[in-house]
Amino acid sequence: MTNPARTVPGLAAMARQGEKIAMLTCYDASFAALLDRAGVDVMLVGDSLGMVIGGHASTLPVTQDEMVYHTRCVAAGAHAALVVADMSFGSYQASREQAYGNAARLMAAGAKMIKVEGGAWLAPTVEFLVARGIPVCGHLGLQPQSVHRLGGYKAQGKTDASARALHDDARALTAAGIDLLVLEMVPAALAAELTAEITAPTIGIGAGPACSGQVLVLYDMLGIYPGKPARFVRNFLTGGSDVEGAVAAYVKAVKDGSFPGPEHCV
Ligand code: KIV
Repeated sequence: MTNPARTVPGLAAMARQGEKIAMLTCYDASFAALLDRAGVDVMLVGDSLGMVIGGHASTLPVTQDEMVYHTRCVAAGAHAALVVADMSFGSYQASREQAYGNAARLMAAGAKMIKVEGGAWLAPTVEFLVARGIPVCGHLGLQPQSVHRLGGYKAQGKTDASARALHDDARALTAAGIDLLVLEMVPAALAAELTAEITAPTIGIGAGPACSGQVLVLYDMLGIYPGKPARFVRNFLTGGSDVEGAVAAYVKAVKDGSFPGPEHCV
C-alpha cells in the first residue's frame, strides 16, 4: 500500500506519534517504484552503491557525479517516499562552501535531504546547509567512509569513553539542526539513550529496536549481496520469491517492532 507523500516534518511527527520509520537504500527508478508500492517511508540513495553496484571494497571510490546520477534515477521512480541522498567521500569535508555546492547538486537532482558522516567537527557545516534550506541527516557510530581509520567495519560506542563521545556528537549535530540521524552498529542500549535524548528521529542499522526507525541495504535484505551478511541483516526474501512481498514484509516488521530482534544487535 503506497503511503501519503512523506515530508521532513512528517517524519518528525511519525517519531513523536511512535510510528516506526521504514527506510531502505535504493539506487534506481524501477526499485524506487517498487519500494513506494511496498510502503517504504524513506529511500536512501546510499554511497553503499559503490559496493553493491560498483563492486568496490568500500564506499570511498564513489564520486559525487555518481551520487547525482543515482539520485536522479531514484527521484524519477519515487513519488511517496522521501528521498535522502548520501554525500560522497571528499565532497563535503573540506569546507562549508564545498559541502553546500555538492549538496545543492543532490537537491537539484531530486533529493529532499542529504546525509553526511561525522560528529561534532561537522556541526558548523550542518548549520550552514540547514540555514540555506537543505535538510540534513547525520550518521554516527560506524562511519563507512572512515573505515581505514577505524580499522574495519566494527561496532562503535562499546567503551564508556566512546559512548560519551557519541552523546557529545549527537548533541552537537542536534544543535546544528539535523532532521534525522542514522546510528550504525552501536549497542542497543546506547542507541536507546540517544533516541530519548535528541529531538531528531533516529534510524538504526545494527543499533537495536529502540530507534525511531530502521534502515537496511536493499541488496542485503533481499540476500543478493555476495559474501557473509552482517549480523544485523535479515533476508526478507527467504522462503519466498516475490521481491515486492519481501519489501512489504520488511516494512511490516519495522512498523510492528519485530525487526530488529535481539539476534540482530551488535
Ligand atoms: O550508504 C548506505 O547505504 C548507508 C546505510 C548503511 C545507512 O549509509
